[in-house]
Parts: sequence; C-alpha cells; structure tokens
Amino acid sequence: MAYLAHISDLHVGSVDFREELLLQVVDEINSSSPDATIVTGDLTENGYYSEFLKAAEYLDMLNTPVLVVPGNHDARHVGDQTFREIIKGRYSTLVKGMYSTLNIKSQDLQIIGLDSSEPDLDYGKVGRSQEKWMIEELHQANDKGLYRIIALHHHIIPVPHTGRERNVLSDAGDILLSMCGNHANLVLSGHKHIPHVWMVEDTAFATAGTVSSLKLRGKQLSSYNTVDIDEDHIEILLNSADGEVTSLAKYQNTCR
Ligand SMILES: [Fe+2]
Ligand SMILES: [Fe+2]
Repeated sequence: MAYLAHISDLHVGSVDFREELLLQVVDEINSSSPDATIVTGDLTENGYYSEFLKAAEYLDMLNTPVLVVPGNHDARHVGDQTFREIIKGRYSTLVKGMYSTLNIKSQDLQIIGLDSSEPDLDYGKVGRSQEKWMIEELHQANDKGLYRIIALHHHIIPVPHTGRERNVLSDAGDILLSMCGNHANLVLSGHKHIPHVWMVEDTAFATAGTVSSLKLRGKQLSSYNTVDIDEDHIEILLNSADGEVTSLAKYQNTCR
C-alpha cells in the first residue's frame, strides 16, 4: 500500500554533522523510491540562515515528495522565520493553513505535519489551535478512509535509554489523548536520537535516530527508519549506518 522513509535530526552545521552519512542515506532513499520522505526536524544545529540553505540543498537531492517539520534546533536564532522562508512551500510542508499536510492520494494515506517547536526553547508544545486543526484533519482523513500519519519533532511518550526526561511535549497528555482518541494510525517523531516504537491502543509512536550526526548515546549508530504499510500489516524498520536493517515493530494494520 505504501512505503515511507522517515529521517530526522540532520543537525547540519554541528561539528558532529557528517555529510557522508547523509549522502549515503539520500542514495539509499533514491534507489528504494519510497512514496514520501518525512523529515521530523532539527535540520540545522543553530537555526542559522546558512545552515538552512545547506540543509535545503541536501533535501533537494531527494527524488521523492518530502514533508518537513521544524525541530527545537531549527527554532533558534529566529530560525522559525528562516524555516518559513526557506523550507515552507519548497517541499510539501506547510501547504495547507498554518501547518502542513501531505496527501498521497494514490496510496490512500495522509500525513499531517505539526510544528512542536518554540523559539529559542528546547521543550515542545503543540498548542490548542494546532491540536484542533489536527483533530479536524484526522476526522476528514478518517471519513475518506485514508491511513493517518502525524509527523512532529518532539516525542510524546518518553523514549527508553535517553536518560533524564526533560523535553517531552508540555501538552503531551492532551495530545496523546487526541491522537489515540481520534484514531491516528502512526505518529513519527525525532528529537532524542534514539529509535523506538511504542504502541498505545491502535496508534504506533515511532521515533527515529539522528540520520547524519554523531550526537549519539553509547554505542548507538546514526540511522533512519522506513515504514512498510500493506493491507494487513505495518512494519517499521531501522536502517543503521553500518548497513544493517532490523525490524523495530510489526503490527496489524487497523486502519478503519
Ligand atoms: Fe536533534
Ligand atoms: Fe531536537
């Protein structure tokens, strides 16, 4: 039914950024031709204009539809304004209303992008107006029978092996309820640089690692996720920088 690439936390501009890792992943994505590539924030390290221009150059190399949402690092140094200027409209981000939605009609799925960043702060928040918009989008997609994916930078459920929890969404409880209660099928995030999948009721919450930086914990490698959706099952695969591909989760497709 659909095949997606989920990359996150590029951190272009960081001393820990490794271009060769990103170019390798761009090659892998272009040769596997997913239906879309979803980028869940921290494109840049400091939100600098020059970093956004460079990040956009890399994203331009992808030959798939691309949906991008900003991360906390992108919202530094008025990077939230730069994100709107350089990234908005360039890809399939922020094409509808204030926020973003990508509708892949041929694949019967809708991807709803949320901006969880706050200028110059590391914590995340979706906020009431965006939550209301998200619920409306979920209802409309549900009515059309579309598979419903949400993308945002910050994790909503704490991620294991990441130490002290500090940056979960400040409105995580309400957003978690809205996502599960309104039948989001899959929620994609980044931020903690650790890949993991939680299942809550019928909703899967998948976080991706950092795709192209050495901002890692322990023996973790940089990585990205791919999502394989067929009529019966969804599988989320971890693609590590050493070339190994492992299954993070496989579960029944309950799209209804
Ligand atoms: Fe990050
Ligand atoms: Fe982050």
